[in-house]
Amino acid sequence: MSLASFSFPTRTLYGIGARRELESQLPRLGIRRPLVVTDPGLLPTQAFAYLAEALGGGGQGRSWFLFDGVHPNPVEPDVTAGAEAYRQHGCDGIIAFGGGSALDVGKAIRLLIKRPDLKLGAFPWDDDWSGLAPCVCIPTTAGTGSEVGRSSVITLTATKRKAVLFTPGLLANWVVLDPEFTTGLPPKLTAATGADALTHCIESYTCPAFHPMCDGIALEGVRLVIEALPKAYRNGADLEARGHMLVAAAMGAVAFQKDLGVVHSLAHPLSTVCGLHHGLANALCLVAGMKFCAQRKPGLYRRVGIACGLEVMQCPPAEADRLTIEFIETFLAGLELNTRLREHGVTPEQLEALVAQAMDDPCHQTNAVPVTAADFLQLYREVL
Ligand SMILES: NC(=O)c1ccc[n+]([C@@H]2O[C@H](COP(=O)([O-])OP(=O)(O)OC[C@H]3O[C@@H](n4cnc5c(N)ncnc54)[C@H](O)[C@@H]3O)[C@@H](O)[C@H]2O)c1
Ligand SMILES: [Fe+2]
Repeated sequence: MSLASFSFPTRTLYGIGARRELESQLPRLGIRRPLVVTDPGLLPTQAFAYLAEALGGGGQGRSWFLFDGVHPNPVEPDVTAGAEAYRQHGCDGIIAFGGGSALDVGKAIRLLIKRPDLKLGAFPWDDDWSGLAPCVCIPTTAGTGSEVGRSSVITLTATKRKAVLFTPGLLANWVVLDPEFTTGLPPKLTAATGADALTHCIESYTCPAFHPMCDGIALEGVRLVIEALPKAYRNGADLEARGHMLVAAAMGAVAFQKDLGVVHSLAHPLSTVCGLHHGLANALCLVAGMKFCAQRKPGLYRRVGIACGLEVMQCPPAEADRLTIEFIETFLAGLELNTRLREHGVTPEQLEALVAQAMDDPCHQTNAVPVTAADFLQLYREVL
């Protein structure tokens, strides 16, 4: 696999060993004292050792600093503490390293560097957020695509809900997609994060906004996930599959500039109320969400089916949907993502809170069809 360079929309270096370009690229981005933002789970991994090596080791005289205070489903104080570390060490840029959680915190810290008094809950996304501290994003999961996204998903202290902080200023200045950073990701997380990427591609493609470029990217993202995810799941060391999943995840996030849908609105409260991993939450709701949309908009999933390799071009609309949804159901089952919410600790007593938060979540407002509170309740019951 050789290195390839492309930029849609973020300058991205892709390939095995791409990390070795960090040392020469950082000064070009004006970064001489980077703060590496990550979560503690990554510190003992081979991925982190690769990063430390690429940055010149961890010995005396090193010129990079570590903030490892990111929680899974990150919370507002993670961002505040990261900004504090940045100031304390006199840093001049961010290297956000990890899954979506670390990337989102790394990106958002720059908001508090520019405006230390900012309250994230009252994020003025219309303001001028240009000129944020430079940021390099390096994903170690292949799912969220946060590295190429314009948003950070942070749970606010005041509301205990996930807020999507959104501004083009949050885009990273450079992205490194090195498959060797993801080879140590355990199979369960490989499957769950990959399902997040798949959900991004399916939901962004079926969201009704006009964006043929994103539609094309979403469908090719589906194809890549369907081919590569089972391989990466079965053999974590398969560098080609790992690489294709990294690209598919980035494509999912590029595509969801268009927006997302009902599955993400079901998933977000499952993280905040019940602590579920974001990708797992999407995986467990995806089929129910697709059935719900297909019933109201027959034929919605025909092209998704074609991207999956199914011959559904000539089928009647409802049949094309049925075959596609069945395929996705079997695909997820092959990744052992066919469990029910109650197996992950979700209880019937939590349904009311879940529905309330799902209704407030913005993603379903761009769903292929409208969704009511009664629909959310029914959908949660189906997957409970
Ligand atoms: N900004 C966006 O556009 C966007 C999009 C989707 C999701 N998100 C957010 O991203 C978060 C989820 O991110 P995620 O699914 O990547 O999970 P994550 O970042 O929470 O990581 C999950 C776990 O995987 C571990 N891990 C990561 N890489 C590893 C590796 N290479 N080897 C071993 N362990 C590794 C981490 O230590 C952590 O324990 C959620 O908060 C979600 O809301 C953001
Ligand atoms: Fe997602």
